[in-house]
Amino acid sequence: MTDKLLITGGVSLGGEVRIAGAKNAALPILAGTLLADGKVTLSNVPHLHDVTTTLELLGRMGVTLTIGERMCIEVDAREIKRFSAPYELVKTMRASILMLGPLVGRFGRADISLPGGCAIGARPVNLHLEGLRAMGAEVSLENGYIRARAERLHGARLVLDMVTVTGTENLMMAAALADGETVIENAAREPEVTDLAEFLNGMGARIRGAGTDSIHVAGVERLAGTRYRVLPDRIETGTYLVAAAITGGRILCRDTRPDLLDAVLVKLREAGARIETGPDWIRLDMAGRRPRAVDVYTAPYPAFPTDMQAQLCALNSIAEGVGTVTETVFENRFMHVLEMQRMGADIRLEGNVAVCRGVERLTAAPVMATDLRASAGLVLAGLVAKGETLIDRIYHIDRGYDNIEEKLATLGARVRRISR
Ligand code: UD1
Repeated sequence: MTDKLLITGGVSLGGEVRIAGAKNAALPILAGTLLADGKVTLSNVPHLHDVTTTLELLGRMGVTLTIGERMCIEVDAREIKRFSAPYELVKTMRASILMLGPLVGRFGRADISLPGGCAIGARPVNLHLEGLRAMGAEVSLENGYIRARAERLHGARLVLDMVTVTGTENLMMAAALADGETVIENAAREPEVTDLAEFLNGMGARIRGAGTDSIHVAGVERLAGTRYRVLPDRIETGTYLVAAAITGGRILCRDTRPDLLDAVLVKLREAGARIETGPDWIRLDMAGRRPRAVDVYTAPYPAFPTDMQAQLCALNSIAEGVGTVTETVFENRFMHVLEMQRMGADIRLEGNVAVCRGVERLTAAPVMATDLRASAGLVLAGLVAKGETLIDRIYHIDRGYDNIEEKLATLGARVRRISR
Protein backbone atom coordinates (compact mmCIF):
# COMPACT_ATOMS: atom_id res chain seq x y z
CA MET A 1 0.00 0.00 0.00
CA THR A 2 1.49 3.28 -0.96
CA ASP A 3 0.05 6.70 -0.46
CA LYS A 4 -0.61 8.96 -3.39
CA LEU A 5 -1.06 12.70 -3.55
CA LEU A 6 -3.90 14.18 -5.57
CA ILE A 7 -3.38 17.78 -6.58
CA THR A 8 -5.85 19.96 -8.43
CA GLY A 9 -3.81 22.66 -10.10
CA GLY A 10 -4.54 26.27 -10.81
CA VAL A 11 -4.68 27.96 -7.40
CA SER A 12 -2.40 30.86 -6.72
CA LEU A 13 -0.82 30.16 -3.31
CA GLY A 14 -0.93 32.71 -0.53
CA GLY A 15 -0.28 32.89 3.20
CA GLU A 16 2.31 31.86 5.74
CA VAL A 17 4.24 28.69 6.29
CA ARG A 18 6.49 27.68 9.15
CA ILE A 19 9.71 26.04 8.03
CA ALA A 20 10.86 22.91 9.87
CA GLY A 21 14.34 21.98 11.02
CA ALA A 22 16.69 20.81 8.27
CA LYS A 23 16.62 17.13 7.40
CA ASN A 24 20.22 17.22 6.27
CA ALA A 25 21.32 18.72 9.58
CA ALA A 26 19.09 16.60 11.82
CA LEU A 27 20.36 13.31 10.36
CA PRO A 28 24.10 13.89 10.97
CA ILE A 29 23.38 15.48 14.36
CA LEU A 30 21.34 12.45 15.42
CA ALA A 31 24.20 10.22 14.29
CA GLY A 32 26.59 12.50 16.18
CA THR A 33 24.75 11.83 19.45
CA LEU A 34 26.52 8.44 19.36
CA LEU A 35 29.69 10.30 20.30
CA ALA A 36 28.31 11.71 23.54
CA ASP A 37 29.05 10.29 26.92
CA GLY A 38 26.00 12.11 28.32
CA LYS A 39 22.45 13.14 27.49
CA VAL A 40 21.78 15.18 24.38
CA THR A 41 18.57 17.15 23.89
CA LEU A 42 17.67 18.22 20.36
CA SER A 43 14.94 20.63 19.36
CA ASN A 44 13.52 21.72 16.00
CA VAL A 45 13.92 18.15 14.71
CA PRO A 46 11.71 17.78 11.63
CA HIS A 47 8.95 15.20 11.61
CA LEU A 48 10.11 13.03 8.70
CA HIS A 49 10.48 9.41 7.71
CA ASP A 50 14.27 9.72 7.48
CA VAL A 51 14.32 10.96 11.07
CA THR A 52 12.15 8.02 12.19
CA THR A 53 14.51 5.64 10.38
CA THR A 54 17.50 7.21 12.11
CA LEU A 55 15.78 6.92 15.51
CA GLU A 56 15.02 3.30 14.75
CA LEU A 57 18.68 2.67 13.90
CA LEU A 58 19.78 4.33 17.15
CA GLY A 59 17.17 2.42 19.15
CA ARG A 60 18.37 -0.91 17.76
CA MET A 61 21.91 -0.06 18.84
CA GLY A 62 20.68 0.34 22.38
CA VAL A 63 20.42 4.12 22.54
CA THR A 64 17.70 5.40 24.89
CA LEU A 65 15.38 7.86 23.15
CA THR A 66 12.70 10.07 24.66
CA ILE A 67 10.54 11.94 22.20
CA GLY A 68 8.84 14.95 23.71
CA GLU A 69 6.43 17.54 22.40
CA ARG A 70 7.13 19.13 19.01
CA MET A 71 9.83 16.57 18.25
CA CYS A 72 12.12 17.61 21.08
CA ILE A 73 14.27 14.50 21.35
CA GLU A 74 16.42 13.34 24.24
CA VAL A 75 19.14 10.89 23.30
CA ASP A 76 21.25 8.89 25.69
CA ALA A 77 23.96 6.90 23.92
CA ARG A 78 26.04 6.04 26.98
CA GLU A 79 25.20 2.35 26.72
CA ILE A 80 25.41 0.78 23.27
CA LYS A 81 24.83 -2.89 22.64
CA ARG A 82 25.14 -3.12 18.89
CA PHE A 83 27.37 -1.36 16.44
CA SER A 84 25.59 -2.08 13.20
CA ALA A 85 23.14 -0.66 10.70
CA PRO A 86 21.21 -3.44 8.94
CA TYR A 87 20.42 -3.54 5.22
CA GLU A 88 16.65 -3.43 5.74
CA LEU A 89 16.94 0.10 7.16
CA VAL A 90 19.94 1.34 5.19
CA LYS A 91 18.29 0.50 1.88
CA THR A 92 15.50 2.97 2.71
CA MET A 93 17.91 5.71 3.72
CA ARG A 94 21.42 6.22 2.40
CA ALA A 95 22.19 8.69 5.18
CA SER A 96 22.55 5.65 7.50
CA ILE A 97 26.18 5.80 6.39
CA LEU A 98 26.47 8.71 8.86
CA MET A 99 26.58 6.18 11.71
CA LEU A 100 29.95 4.90 10.47
CA GLY A 101 32.19 7.76 11.62
CA PRO A 102 30.77 8.14 15.14
CA LEU A 103 30.70 4.38 15.83
CA VAL A 104 34.31 3.88 14.77
CA GLY A 105 35.40 7.10 16.46
CA ARG A 106 33.92 6.22 19.85
CA PHE A 107 33.66 2.44 19.97
CA GLY A 108 36.27 1.37 17.43
CA ARG A 109 33.86 -0.79 15.49
CA ALA A 110 30.99 -0.51 13.00
CA ASP A 111 29.17 -2.79 10.57
CA ILE A 112 27.11 -0.70 8.20
CA SER A 113 25.27 -2.15 5.25
CA LEU A 114 26.30 -0.71 1.91
CA PRO A 115 23.46 1.46 0.65
CA GLY A 116 23.28 -0.16 -2.78
CA GLY A 117 21.59 1.33 -5.82
CA CYS A 118 20.10 4.73 -5.78
CA ALA A 119 17.68 6.42 -8.14
CA ILE A 120 19.96 9.42 -8.64
CA GLY A 121 23.17 7.74 -9.66
CA ALA A 122 25.97 5.62 -8.26
CA ARG A 123 26.62 7.69 -5.12
CA PRO A 124 29.66 5.81 -3.86
CA VAL A 125 31.04 6.16 -0.32
CA ASN A 126 34.70 5.50 -1.18
CA LEU A 127 35.84 8.84 0.24
CA HIS A 128 34.26 8.05 3.62
CA LEU A 129 36.16 4.75 3.72
CA GLU A 130 39.50 6.11 2.48
CA GLY A 131 39.37 8.86 5.10
CA LEU A 132 38.78 6.37 7.90
CA ARG A 133 41.62 4.18 6.64
CA ALA A 134 43.95 7.19 6.67
CA MET A 135 42.98 7.67 10.33
CA GLY A 136 44.04 4.12 11.13
CA ALA A 137 40.84 2.11 10.76
CA GLU A 138 40.81 -1.28 9.10
CA VAL A 139 37.98 -1.19 6.63
CA SER A 140 36.75 -4.12 4.56
CA LEU A 141 33.62 -5.05 2.65
CA GLU A 142 31.99 -8.30 3.74
CA ASN A 143 28.65 -9.70 2.64
CA GLY A 144 27.39 -6.31 1.55
CA TYR A 145 28.50 -4.66 4.77
CA ILE A 146 31.20 -2.12 5.51
CA ARG A 147 33.20 -3.57 8.38
CA ALA A 148 35.40 -1.05 10.18
CA ARG A 149 37.63 -1.73 13.15
CA ALA A 150 40.12 0.46 14.98
CA GLU A 151 41.84 1.03 18.25
CA ARG A 152 41.71 4.77 18.82
CA LEU A 153 41.75 6.58 15.47
CA HIS A 154 44.59 9.00 14.91
CA GLY A 155 44.54 12.44 13.31
CA ALA A 156 45.40 12.66 9.61
CA ARG A 157 45.51 15.11 6.75
CA LEU A 158 42.65 14.22 4.43
CA VAL A 159 42.36 15.72 0.97
CA LEU A 160 38.99 14.79 -0.46
CA ASP A 161 38.90 14.07 -4.20
CA MET A 162 35.38 15.44 -4.48
CA VAL A 163 33.25 17.69 -2.34
CA THR A 164 31.09 15.30 -0.34
CA VAL A 165 28.62 16.47 2.28
CA THR A 166 28.05 13.30 4.30
CA GLY A 167 31.68 12.29 3.69
CA THR A 168 32.89 15.51 5.32
CA GLU A 169 30.44 14.99 8.18
CA ASN A 170 31.40 11.37 8.75
CA LEU A 171 35.11 12.18 8.86
CA MET A 172 34.59 15.21 11.09
CA MET A 173 32.68 13.03 13.58
CA ALA A 174 35.29 10.28 13.45
CA ALA A 175 38.04 12.84 14.03
CA ALA A 176 36.34 14.43 17.03
CA LEU A 177 37.55 11.68 19.39
CA ALA A 178 40.74 10.78 17.50
CA ASP A 179 44.24 11.12 18.87
CA GLY A 180 45.71 14.31 17.44
CA GLU A 181 44.65 16.77 14.74
CA THR A 182 42.77 15.95 11.57
CA VAL A 183 42.61 18.36 8.66
CA ILE A 184 39.91 17.87 6.04
CA GLU A 185 40.79 19.68 2.81
CA ASN A 186 38.28 20.25 0.02
CA ALA A 187 35.61 19.88 2.71
CA ALA A 188 31.96 20.52 1.92
CA ARG A 189 30.88 24.02 2.95
CA GLU A 190 27.17 23.28 3.29
CA PRO A 191 25.45 25.03 6.23
CA GLU A 192 24.44 21.61 7.55
CA VAL A 193 28.15 20.73 7.94
CA THR A 194 28.57 23.92 9.98
CA ASP A 195 25.50 23.09 12.05
CA LEU A 196 26.92 19.66 12.85
CA ALA A 197 30.28 21.21 13.81
CA GLU A 198 28.55 23.68 16.15
CA PHE A 199 26.62 20.83 17.73
CA LEU A 200 29.80 18.78 18.23
CA ASN A 201 31.61 21.80 19.65
CA GLY A 202 28.72 22.17 22.08
CA MET A 203 29.60 18.66 23.30
CA GLY A 204 33.22 19.71 23.77
CA ALA A 205 34.72 18.94 20.35
CA ARG A 206 37.41 21.25 18.96
CA ILE A 207 36.49 21.91 15.36
CA ARG A 208 37.55 25.02 13.44
CA GLY A 209 36.91 26.08 9.89
CA ALA A 210 33.51 24.46 9.31
CA GLY A 211 31.84 26.43 6.52
CA THR A 212 35.18 26.74 4.71
CA ASP A 213 36.87 24.11 2.58
CA SER A 214 39.50 23.41 5.24
CA ILE A 215 38.26 21.94 8.51
CA HIS A 216 40.59 21.35 11.46
CA VAL A 217 39.57 18.91 14.17
CA ALA A 218 41.68 18.61 17.30
CA GLY A 219 40.70 15.27 18.82
CA VAL A 220 39.54 15.20 22.45
CA GLU A 221 39.27 12.32 24.95
CA ARG A 222 35.57 12.58 25.65
CA LEU A 223 32.45 14.39 24.48
CA ALA A 224 29.69 15.37 26.90
CA GLY A 225 25.93 15.85 26.53
CA THR A 226 24.45 19.12 25.29
CA ARG A 227 21.29 20.84 24.09
CA TYR A 228 21.02 21.88 20.48
CA ARG A 229 18.49 23.42 18.12
CA VAL A 230 18.66 22.19 14.52
CA LEU A 231 18.95 24.90 11.86
CA PRO A 232 16.03 25.58 9.47
CA ASP A 233 15.62 23.62 6.27
CA ARG A 234 16.80 25.73 3.32
CA ILE A 235 15.53 23.19 0.79
CA GLU A 236 12.04 23.09 2.30
CA THR A 237 12.11 26.90 2.32
CA GLY A 238 13.18 27.01 -1.32
CA THR A 239 10.51 24.52 -2.31
CA TYR A 240 7.70 26.65 -0.81
CA LEU A 241 9.13 29.79 -2.36
CA VAL A 242 9.03 28.12 -5.78
CA ALA A 243 5.49 26.88 -5.03
CA ALA A 244 4.42 30.50 -4.61
CA ALA A 245 6.44 31.72 -7.59
CA ILE A 246 5.17 29.07 -9.98
CA THR A 247 1.54 29.80 -9.09
CA GLY A 248 1.93 33.60 -9.25
CA GLY A 249 1.31 33.74 -5.50
CA ARG A 250 2.56 35.48 -2.41
CA ILE A 251 4.05 33.69 0.57
CA LEU A 252 5.74 34.33 3.88
CA CYS A 253 8.17 31.65 5.10
CA ARG A 254 8.79 31.92 8.84
CA ASP A 255 11.44 30.37 11.09
CA THR A 256 13.92 30.15 8.24
CA ARG A 257 17.27 31.75 7.39
CA PRO A 258 17.48 33.80 4.17
CA ASP A 259 21.30 33.86 4.34
CA LEU A 260 21.30 30.11 3.58
CA LEU A 261 19.43 30.62 0.32
CA ASP A 262 21.40 33.30 -1.51
CA ALA A 263 21.79 31.34 -4.75
CA VAL A 264 18.11 30.36 -4.78
CA LEU A 265 16.85 33.88 -4.05
CA VAL A 266 18.98 35.28 -6.89
CA LYS A 267 17.28 32.89 -9.33
CA LEU A 268 13.80 33.63 -8.02
CA ARG A 269 14.42 37.37 -8.38
CA GLU A 270 15.65 36.75 -11.93
CA ALA A 271 12.40 34.88 -12.52
CA GLY A 272 10.56 38.08 -11.61
CA ALA A 273 9.67 37.53 -7.95
CA ARG A 274 9.75 40.40 -5.48
CA ILE A 275 11.53 39.17 -2.38
CA GLU A 276 11.95 40.76 1.02
CA THR A 277 13.83 39.20 3.90
CA GLY A 278 14.27 39.63 7.63
CA PRO A 279 16.51 37.75 10.05
CA ASP A 280 14.25 34.67 10.13
CA TRP A 281 11.71 35.21 7.36
CA ILE A 282 11.38 35.51 3.60
CA ARG A 283 8.46 37.02 1.74
CA LEU A 284 8.01 36.33 -1.95
CA ASP A 285 5.46 38.05 -4.15
CA MET A 286 4.91 37.02 -7.75
CA ALA A 287 1.85 39.27 -8.07
CA GLY A 288 -0.03 36.97 -10.44
CA ARG A 289 2.69 37.12 -13.07
CA ARG A 290 4.10 34.24 -15.06
CA PRO A 291 7.75 33.59 -14.10
CA ARG A 292 10.58 34.23 -16.56
CA ALA A 293 12.76 31.23 -17.41
CA VAL A 294 16.14 31.12 -15.67
CA ASP A 295 19.46 29.35 -16.25
CA VAL A 296 20.63 27.27 -13.32
CA TYR A 297 23.89 25.44 -12.68
CA THR A 298 24.03 23.16 -9.65
CA ALA A 299 27.23 22.82 -7.62
CA PRO A 300 28.29 22.46 -3.97
CA TYR A 301 27.35 25.25 -1.54
CA PRO A 302 27.30 28.25 -1.79
CA ALA A 303 26.31 27.64 -5.43
CA PHE A 304 22.83 26.58 -6.44
CA PRO A 305 21.85 23.34 -4.60
CA THR A 306 21.21 20.15 -6.53
CA ASP A 307 18.36 19.52 -4.08
CA MET A 308 16.49 22.50 -5.66
CA GLN A 309 17.13 21.43 -9.25
CA ALA A 310 13.86 19.55 -9.85
CA GLN A 311 11.87 22.47 -8.43
CA LEU A 312 13.55 24.87 -10.87
CA CYS A 313 12.79 22.51 -13.75
CA ALA A 314 9.13 22.76 -12.73
CA LEU A 315 9.35 26.55 -12.62
CA ASN A 316 11.01 26.74 -16.04
CA SER A 317 8.47 24.35 -17.51
CA ILE A 318 5.73 27.01 -17.32
CA ALA A 319 7.96 30.10 -17.50
CA GLU A 320 8.24 32.63 -20.29
CA GLY A 321 11.22 31.83 -22.47
CA VAL A 322 13.89 29.16 -22.49
CA GLY A 323 15.91 28.18 -19.43
CA THR A 324 18.68 25.62 -19.05
CA VAL A 325 19.23 23.59 -15.91
CA THR A 326 22.68 22.01 -15.64
CA GLU A 327 23.22 19.27 -13.06
CA THR A 328 26.85 18.84 -12.06
CA VAL A 329 26.59 17.05 -8.70
CA PHE A 330 24.77 13.82 -9.52
CA GLU A 331 24.47 11.87 -12.72
CA ASN A 332 20.99 10.64 -13.56
CA ARG A 333 19.10 13.22 -11.54
CA PHE A 334 16.55 14.10 -14.21
CA MET A 335 13.93 11.42 -13.59
CA HIS A 336 11.34 14.12 -12.91
CA VAL A 337 11.89 15.55 -16.38
CA LEU A 338 10.46 12.43 -18.02
CA GLU A 339 7.37 12.72 -15.83
CA MET A 340 7.04 16.46 -16.47
CA GLN A 341 7.16 15.74 -20.21
CA ARG A 342 4.10 13.53 -19.68
CA MET A 343 2.41 16.61 -18.25
CA GLY A 344 3.15 18.55 -21.42
CA ALA A 345 6.43 20.17 -20.42
CA ASP A 346 8.73 21.00 -23.32
CA ILE A 347 12.05 19.90 -21.82
CA ARG A 348 14.88 18.42 -23.84
CA LEU A 349 17.62 16.47 -22.10
CA GLU A 350 21.13 16.88 -23.48
CA GLY A 351 23.49 14.97 -21.21
CA ASN A 352 23.45 16.74 -17.88
CA VAL A 353 21.55 19.75 -19.22
CA ALA A 354 17.78 20.13 -19.29
CA VAL A 355 16.69 22.72 -21.83
CA CYS A 356 13.21 23.92 -20.84
CA ARG A 357 11.03 25.91 -23.18
CA GLY A 358 8.21 27.21 -21.02
CA VAL A 359 4.65 26.32 -22.02
CA GLU A 360 1.59 28.34 -20.98
CA ARG A 361 0.07 25.51 -19.03
CA LEU A 362 0.87 21.94 -18.00
CA THR A 363 -1.84 19.30 -18.07
CA ALA A 364 -2.46 16.85 -15.27
CA ALA A 365 -1.35 13.23 -15.59
CA PRO A 366 -0.73 10.33 -13.27
CA VAL A 367 2.98 10.52 -12.45
CA MET A 368 5.49 8.59 -10.39
CA ALA A 369 7.85 10.01 -7.80
CA THR A 370 11.32 8.47 -8.14
CA ASP A 371 13.29 10.21 -5.43
CA LEU A 372 12.84 12.84 -2.80
CA ARG A 373 13.50 16.05 -4.72
CA ALA A 374 12.05 14.71 -7.96
CA SER A 375 8.77 14.31 -6.09
CA ALA A 376 8.95 17.90 -4.91
CA GLY A 377 9.33 18.94 -8.54
CA LEU A 378 6.26 16.93 -9.49
CA VAL A 379 4.18 18.42 -6.68
CA LEU A 380 5.08 21.89 -7.96
CA ALA A 381 4.20 20.88 -11.51
CA GLY A 382 0.88 19.54 -10.21
CA LEU A 383 0.11 22.89 -8.58
CA VAL A 384 0.07 24.59 -11.98
CA ALA A 385 -1.28 21.78 -14.14
CA LYS A 386 -4.78 21.87 -15.53
CA GLY A 387 -6.76 19.10 -13.90
CA GLU A 388 -5.98 16.50 -11.26
CA THR A 389 -2.42 15.23 -10.97
CA LEU A 390 -2.05 11.97 -9.11
CA ILE A 391 1.47 11.44 -7.75
CA ASP A 392 2.32 7.86 -6.92
CA ARG A 393 5.08 6.67 -4.54
CA ILE A 394 4.69 9.71 -2.37
CA TYR A 395 6.68 7.98 0.37
CA HIS A 396 9.69 9.58 -1.22
CA ILE A 397 8.38 12.99 -0.30
CA ASP A 398 7.55 11.94 3.27
CA ARG A 399 11.25 11.17 3.70
CA GLY A 400 12.11 14.83 3.48
CA TYR A 401 9.08 17.13 3.77
CA ASP A 402 7.39 17.72 7.09
CA ASN A 403 3.58 17.66 6.64
CA ILE A 404 3.65 18.77 3.04
CA GLU A 405 -0.03 18.43 2.20
CA GLU A 406 -1.14 20.26 5.31
CA LYS A 407 1.28 23.08 4.69
CA LEU A 408 0.28 23.38 1.03
CA ALA A 409 -3.41 23.25 1.98
CA THR A 410 -2.89 26.11 4.45
CA LEU A 411 -1.51 28.10 1.52
CA GLY A 412 -4.69 27.39 -0.43
CA ALA A 413 -3.56 24.48 -2.59
CA ARG A 414 -6.11 21.80 -3.41
CA VAL A 415 -4.22 18.74 -2.32
CA ARG A 416 -5.30 15.46 -0.80
CA ARG A 417 -3.48 12.34 0.35
CA ILE A 418 -4.99 9.11 -0.84
CA SER A 419 -4.16 5.97 1.12
CA ARG A 420 -5.26 2.76 -0.43
C1 UD1 B 1 24.12 15.11 0.62
C2 UD1 B 1 22.68 15.40 0.96
C3 UD1 B 1 21.83 15.40 -0.31
C4 UD1 B 1 22.42 16.33 -1.36
C5 UD1 B 1 23.90 16.05 -1.57
C6 UD1 B 1 24.57 17.07 -2.47
C7 UD1 B 1 22.46 14.56 3.22
C8 UD1 B 1 21.89 13.53 4.12
N1 UD1 B 1 22.20 14.42 1.90
O1 UD1 B 1 24.17 13.79 0.06
O2 UD1 B 1 20.51 15.82 0.04
O3 UD1 B 1 21.75 16.16 -2.58
O4 UD1 B 1 24.60 16.06 -0.31
O5 UD1 B 1 24.39 18.36 -1.98
O6 UD1 B 1 23.07 15.51 3.66
N2 UD1 B 1 30.95 11.02 -4.03
C9 UD1 B 1 31.95 10.13 -4.36
N3 UD1 B 1 32.53 9.40 -3.36
C10 UD1 B 1 32.15 9.50 -2.05
C11 UD1 B 1 31.12 10.40 -1.74
C12 UD1 B 1 30.54 11.15 -2.75
O7 UD1 B 1 32.33 10.01 -5.52
O8 UD1 B 1 32.71 8.80 -1.20
C13 UD1 B 1 30.29 11.84 -5.09
C14 UD1 B 1 28.82 11.49 -5.29
O9 UD1 B 1 28.65 10.39 -6.15
C15 UD1 B 1 28.27 12.77 -5.87
C16 UD1 B 1 29.12 13.85 -5.17
O10 UD1 B 1 30.26 13.19 -4.67
O11 UD1 B 1 28.49 12.84 -7.24
C17 UD1 B 1 28.43 14.57 -4.05
O12 UD1 B 1 27.82 13.65 -3.19
P1 UD1 B 1 27.69 13.88 -1.61
O13 UD1 B 1 27.97 15.31 -1.28
O14 UD1 B 1 28.49 12.85 -0.92
O15 UD1 B 1 26.16 13.58 -1.37
P2 UD1 B 1 25.55 13.01 -0.05
O16 UD1 B 1 26.42 13.42 1.09
O17 UD1 B 1 25.21 11.58 -0.24
